[in-house]
Amino acid sequence: MKAVKTVSNWDVEKVRKDFPVLSQTVNGQPLVYLDNSASSQVPQLVIDRGAKYLREEHSNIHRGVHYLSQHATTAYEAAREKVKRFINAKEAKECIFVRGCTEGVNLVANSYGRKFIGEGDEIIVSQMEHHSNIIPWQQIAEERGAKIRMIPMNCRGELIIDEYENLLNERTKMVAVSHVSNSLGTINPIKEMIATAHKFGVPFFVDAAQSVPHFPVDVQDLDADFFTFSGHKMFAPTGSGVLYGKREWLDKMPPYQTGGGMIRNVSFEKTTFAPIPDKFEAGTPSIAAGIGLGAAIDYLNSIDFEAAAAHEHALLEYATQRLSDIEGVKIIGTAANKASVLSFTIENIHPHDIGTILDQSGIAIRAGHHCAQPVMQFFDVPATARASFAFYNTREEVDKLADAVQKVIEVFA
Ligand code: ALA
Repeated sequence: MKAVKTVSNWDVEKVRKDFPVLSQTVNGQPLVYLDNSASSQVPQLVIDRGAKYLREEHSNIHRGVHYLSQHATTAYEAAREKVKRFINAKEAKECIFVRGCTEGVNLVANSYGRKFIGEGDEIIVSQMEHHSNIIPWQQIAEERGAKIRMIPMNCRGELIIDEYENLLNERTKMVAVSHVSNSLGTINPIKEMIATAHKFGVPFFVDAAQSVPHFPVDVQDLDADFFTFSGHKMFAPTGSGVLYGKREWLDKMPPYQTGGGMIRNVSFEKTTFAPIPDKFEAGTPSIAAGIGLGAAIDYLNSIDFEAAAAHEHALLEYATQRLSDIEGVKIIGTAANKASVLSFTIENIHPHDIGTILDQSGIAIRAGHHCAQPVMQFFDVPATARASFAFYNTREEVDKLADAVQKVIEVFA
């Protein structure tokens, strides 16, 4: 057995106390929450901030002259500033609040697509994308007479970069790839891939849903043209998320949704639109969730995020080793560079059965196709069981997972 590192400067027991949900029992056992890639848990600081907003500050934003409205507007815009600093955007106005990553992809596919994609053009996505970074591009490609091209992966679940380079040409209008795969955990070499796309003058869209909660990111360093992530996977409430876009693109793109709050002037003859970010934020947004996202960033700024990432990585390595040692278990996704996700199958046992039996021991994992059916087709499996880690998970929880997986095999033997 190879030695797996532990991270000495990470006090996981102290951090766990910040997340009230973790201290409950499920089915008579202490909860072992390993479904963080679906939705992570929320720290007390974020819960308190949401409660304070609802108790003392609730009001509509950007449209009231009264005290509460101005107060709520200030809190919401402060959250945007926090997002800007968190991802190192050049301006807060480049950070559009959306409901989540899915809305971020749909926004760009529809808005950029209708303006810049035409007959015979090509959009490149990868074989390991989540459905939400495939279907919006497919839909716009169909509407505009464009084609989807796919970057293939190898049997470890790593993108074949030579094939990517061969796909780029003068017809390519967008490359859309995930930073980290939700079904395999692969960390893609996104910075290099962006630089390659830019050599062809092609913008690059990053689905960052599974990277932002797990390690620090810098959109300017990556030189991403678009970059989207969801709040509920990064310790914030559902209904919050961000689409970052470079101003040079966002300024040229038409609105995605229209309605209140996004106009400069409306008449029956003609409507003109507000500048970014308002142009892309029609209607009353998820105000409490946006402020909650700001609080989640405060939380992440209050911990040693680098140590958190190192702890999580050590857990992933340990879990990979523990499960690999169990006969009949197959790890799906063995890339050299991975984050958070451990997908696996057990010979002759359906992942849903694995998930259900683990739940009886209080262990929450996800079982299914993970909204990544092309990945399942590639590995020729109907589904996988997926444990996904956050910085509040422990080695003891990994041991419980491994013991429970062993029990599943015994139950079915
Ligand atoms: N996209 C989320 C997941 O991977 C829901 O589970």
